[in-house]
Amino acid sequence: MKRRVDFLIIGSGIAGLTYALKVADKGSVFIVTKASEDESNTKYAQGGIAAVMYEPDSHEKHINDTLIAGAGLCDEEVVRMVITESTEKVKELIEWGANFDKNKKGEYDLAREGGHSEHRVLHHKDNTGFEIERALLAKVYKHPNITILDHHFAIDILTQHHLGEIVNSKTPDIKCYGAYVLDAKTNKIETILAKVTCMATGGAGHVYVTTTNPKVSTGDGIAMVYRAKGHVKDMEFVQFHPTSLYNPGEHPSYLISEAVRGFGAVLKTIDGKEFMQKYDERGCLAPRDIVARAIDNEMKLHGHDYVELDCRHLDRKGFIDHFPNIYNKCMSLGIDPFIKKIPVVPAQHYLCGGIIVDKTGRSTIEKLFAIGECTCTGLHGANRLASNSLLEGLVYAHHAAADSIAEMQNNSFNEKIPDWDAEGTEHPEEMILITQSLREVQQIMSNYVGIVRSELRLKRAFDRLEILYQENEALYEKTTISPRLCELRNLICIGYLIIKHAKQRKESVGLHYMLKFKE
Ligand code: FAD
Ligand code: SIN
Repeated sequence: MKRRVDFLIIGSGIAGLTYALKVADKGSVFIVTKASEDESNTKYAQGGIAAVMYEPDSHEKHINDTLIAGAGLCDEEVVRMVITESTEKVKELIEWGANFDKNKKGEYDLAREGGHSEHRVLHHKDNTGFEIERALLAKVYKHPNITILDHHFAIDILTQHHLGEIVNSKTPDIKCYGAYVLDAKTNKIETILAKVTCMATGGAGHVYVTTTNPKVSTGDGIAMVYRAKGHVKDMEFVQFHPTSLYNPGEHPSYLISEAVRGFGAVLKTIDGKEFMQKYDERGCLAPRDIVARAIDNEMKLHGHDYVELDCRHLDRKGFIDHFPNIYNKCMSLGIDPFIKKIPVVPAQHYLCGGIIVDKTGRSTIEKLFAIGECTCTGLHGANRLASNSLLEGLVYAHHAAADSIAEMQNNSFNEKIPDWDAEGTEHPEEMILITQSLREVQQIMSNYVGIVRSELRLKRAFDRLEILYQENEALYEKTTISPRLCELRNLICIGYLIIKHAKQRKESVGLHYMLKFKE
């Protein structure tokens, strides 16, 4: 079955929804999203969104903090663009209905997180992402040109490859004509032809055993673009959040926001010793790569499974007021943060690399824009500064929308694209093959391609993943498509890209830490 739309957006987090609102007055919009429409990394964002609001803060200070966190690998022009637009774009989000907490003076109550030299993080209690997603969806529902296709899984983008032409990464004019999308309710694969397609599929946390990301984060957009021969960069820079709640068996891991450390909580070993000053003079509020590595090192030194976050000295009322969800979560596990320290451990949290885009969100494939966590814009360099990613999604949605409107007006549908051919495929008899392979991918990545890496570990991971790749491609060829099978295929691709880029980088920088280059 064929459907036609001016703008096809894949993903309904902050990036996809903002872009939808910005293009919808100019044409028809489909938002394809693989679970319920609010399910996304955005929904779980706790700390908030970084923006310069009042003196003594300044754009220059925020730019400087971003560049320092990025360890010399940020694109300074991009950093300047995003940060100088932060105030205006966040004000627009507020006009659209997002609420952020204010203090008694009526000013925004700005929090501080690791790597920030000022208080500049706007937040809504400790569930900022939920509030942003709520406000954006409320506005999207009201727009007559926007249709949300929930529980629709994008399998692959459409290019000349689907017309039988040979396409490789050097082909200069690869074009995107839309996507093949599986309606999970009917199990039918639809051909959605679009004049412009926008990838906004978020992160890839589930390539690791422990992650703070919800289940939808399987790197689909990056894998789709890579398969279509688009260019992808910086995949070695995987951010591990230092403080996810240590609660074995809980997947995904529950986040204990960095804002809790911004509020004064202190990291200690199980035997009660502070350790962060040994690693960095900024202590518990050093950038994330440094804190996560320090925790990893302390756990290994002492043979402990976790470290602890001491909140016992903090103002109880202020804490509960700022972090009601974190407080309730801890209490539900029998941890009263004012009596016991909170056990924490690093967990995969964010992917800095992704689909290469320019300042307008254009990918290397024509008619295909990409925005949000699935991209590599140059903002984060080797390590993302806390609370800069919601901001990046907002700013790039704006830029990509402006260019997409002009692009859409010049494009037409490619009617030659054939419908999906399911001939010769069978229902999988053995789901165990998919679930077991997924476990293996996650184990390989967690054991060998985590916070600390070495050439030997990377080689072993690469060799093991190669076997899984071959097995899964064979399964893919003969099996009826399902979201689980596609996600496995995508995660194998993401694992491959992380390892490949990690092997290519011959230095330790930011989030990529190789034993051999530790000096
Ligand atoms: P997402 O919000 O992840 O949305 C991606 C969308 O794509 C989802 O709707 C998903 O279902 C859909 N999708 C994926 N694949 C497919 C497919 N094949 N077909 C159809 N749909 C698909 N950042 C901050 O700046 N501040 C914070 O305080 C903060 N806290 C965080 C806390 C947690 C627990 C987590 C996990 C992340 C946090 N982050 C934070 C990071 C931030 O939330 C994300 O980087 C950001 O929300 C990404 O937005 P996005 O729109 O790019 O992607
Ligand atoms: C947090 O609240 O610690 C997450 C902030 C982020 O990932 O930017």
